[in-house]
Amino acid sequence: MDIGIDLGTANIMIAIAGKDIVFYEPSVIAFNKNSEDITAIGMDAYRMIGRAPGNIAVVRPLCDGVISDYDMADTLIRECIQRVTGRQLFMPRIVICVPSLVTDVEARAVIDAAREAGARKVYLIEEPVAALLGAGVDISKARGRMVVDIGGGTTDIAVLSMNGIVIKNSVKLAGNKIDAAVMRYVMTRYRVQIGERTAENAKISLAEVFSPDGSRKMEVKGIDQVTGLPARLELTDYDMYKAIIDSINELVEAVKELLEKTPPELSADIHDDGILLTGGGALIGGLDKLIAKETGVKTSVAKDPIRCVARGTAKAFECMDSLASGFERVSLYGYER
Ligand SMILES: Nc1ncnc2c1ncn2[C@@H]1O[C@H](COP(=O)(O)OP(=O)(O)OP(=O)(O)O)[C@@H](O)[C@H]1O
Ligand SMILES: [Mg+2]
Repeated sequence: MDIGIDLGTANIMIAIAGKDIVFYEPSVIAFNKNSEDITAIGMDAYRMIGRAPGNIAVVRPLCDGVISDYDMADTLIRECIQRVTGRQLFMPRIVICVPSLVTDVEARAVIDAAREAGARKVYLIEEPVAALLGAGVDISKARGRMVVDIGGGTTDIAVLSMNGIVIKNSVKLAGNKIDAAVMRYVMTRYRVQIGERTAENAKISLAEVFSPDGSRKMEVKGIDQVTGLPARLELTDYDMYKAIIDSINELVEAVKELLEKTPPELSADIHDDGILLTGGGALIGGLDKLIAKETGVKTSVAKDPIRCVARGTAKAFECMDSLASGFERVSLYGYER
């Protein structure tokens, strides 16, 4: 069996080559600090964030797109693979994604984790390559394609042509930092402290960065910083706009910067075909329109953007030889046991 893994800061997804995504859960793991037993993984662990007693630690083993807690990342990957395959003894080949500007040490951690989980052979694929493959784009042509993958930890921006990355950038600004900006805004504007999950839910319901009109409203609950008591307040899409627009503008600037550095022939292709947005952040309301306005290049959101990278990791098995061979910037690396 060949499996593709999107090991994301926010979500971990597993896709089986030739099939579709069979596992999709938050990248969260909860364990008992005394016995070191795993209490829960995925959605069950996510529900415990901010709610667990002192003896249970709830951790996200990835931060900014890379592994920050080695042991827990190994365990998480192993548990997830076991959920998919059962406990049978087999050695799959695994394609697993990493952000574009990953260091050797960070890449090594991902390879080791996949091996620990029982992989016979591990391949690393850079997120933008997987994103385009998963979105169904033919990247083998001598034609420039631009993708912006906005995840939880990193935003990866790249131009690809002929199965390879021509130019790329990866910034540690994505969903999680945007959520933090929402928490900060609510704190300074309303003196109410809200949790991470509340901020994320409000962002998903309210974010409109192109033309907020006050039509979206949502009640959120937190703690009043003056009285220390539970408080509820209504947020609007205007609030959300003010909270996140600085972060969004920073993202748009990064896209512009890469466009400016793109060689002319490829730049012309991108002007014809447009920019493709993938990752959960692609769903931020109006982001496609804002990027189109700021860059002058038409911009669209991929179908099912959150699943593109995972689908791409599994699809990579089909075009492995062309991806892995001969190009100056090889976008798929293989490691044998
Ligand atoms: N409808 C939505 N509107 C805005 N943001 C959304 C929406 N749905 C999901 N998100 C955000 O998308 C992010 C998760 O996206 P994704 O699963 O692509 O990240 P990831 O692959 O885990 O992270 P990374 O690639 O950075 O390691 C979260 O920050 C989540 O809040
Ligand atoms: Mg991702």
